[in-house]
Amino acid sequence: MEHAVARGVPVIAAGQTMMSNYQAMQARLAADIAAAEDLDALEALRVIALGKAGSITALLKSLGAMTPDERQAQGPQIHALRETITAALAERKAALDAAALDIKLAAEAIDMTLPADAAPKGSVHSVSQVMDELTEIFADMGFAVATGPEIEDDWHNFTALNIPETHPARAMHDTFYFPDVDAEGRAMLLRTHTSPVQIRTMMNQEPPIRIIAPGRVYRSDSDATHTPMFHQVEGLVIDRGIHMGHLKWTLETFLKAYFERDDIVLRLRPSYFPFTEPSAEVDVGYKQEKGRRIVGGHGDDDGHAWMELLGSGMVNRRVIANCGLDPDVWQGFAFGVGVDRLAMLKYGMDDLRAFFDGDLRWLAHYGFGALSVPTLSGGISA
Ligand code: DAH
Repeated sequence: MEHAVARGVPVIAAGQTMMSNYQAMQARLAADIAAAEDLDALEALRVIALGKAGSITALLKSLGAMTPDERQAQGPQIHALRETITAALAERKAALDAAALDIKLAAEAIDMTLPADAAPKGSVHSVSQVMDELTEIFADMGFAVATGPEIEDDWHNFTALNIPETHPARAMHDTFYFPDVDAEGRAMLLRTHTSPVQIRTMMNQEPPIRIIAPGRVYRSDSDATHTPMFHQVEGLVIDRGIHMGHLKWTLETFLKAYFERDDIVLRLRPSYFPFTEPSAEVDVGYKQEKGRRIVGGHGDDDGHAWMELLGSGMVNRRVIANCGLDPDVWQGFAFGVGVDRLAMLKYGMDDLRAFFDGDLRWLAHYGFGALSVPTLSGGISA
């Protein structure tokens, strides 16, 4: 008992008075808890009663110094006191939480009749925007959008495109290979270009075919103008009597619509791709203005130059035959172009890596409003 006095625990002389002492303590604490106005006040009360130096904690500690008889008499009362106060604290906390939630919900009420936020957060990435622009432009010329897997096999990515195993183009593509082969024993890889979509389309669809295939491609390459993942759009037309004139007209029409100017001048330069014969690299006239390349004008005019923009050609007879079509009946042209490159040229970005940094400031500057969908009638990049 002396110990208890020394620790400041209520001195209780006999069983009867003890009872009333605990009851008084419980009544006082319960009243304070019921009156607590906020969570902070409630927490302060919890510390006073049940904290390390709290009054009920002290009572619990005093049990150790009691005689077995005292402990038997008082132990259940002290534990009951702790349980009652713990329950009172929980009850009050639930009430305060509910009240706080009500206030928050009332403040957050949404009026569905108000107009949409005039300055929505978030924006459409320039790559998505440009892909939408390309889709719109080609849809207007009667092209559908085709897709293929990004995890490809080497037959679709190379062999069917007339790039045999020993072909130097395979090494040129810096391919990411998977360690395993597929069920047919074909090496699996991340597609290095969108050209395998040509193969998949010709094998799955009856000609005439007019498709574009925008998408991600992968090469083990990284610097200011190369990223390990980038975007291409492939074009493919298969029909009877298709010739290079159709190719040139299509590209010219596309580039005029894309750059939104009529003075687009193209130069087709003989080149080599295994999947086209003949092949042509397509250059476009441009002018350097304020450190930026502005597409347009004749590359041989004063102050103008030629810039290589895309690869193209007449689909190689072997590729058509590889897809089970008769090359004496069906001809076509194909082209491939870097989407990121097209975006940089049109919207004036200079570092390809920034496309994939996910920097919100860059997106705020170069991104596009989610509601401004490109249309030919409304303006492609309006
Ligand atoms: N697949 C080529 C590449 O990634 C680009 C290309 C060139 C695609 C000519 C074509 C084409 O369809 O005809 O470098």
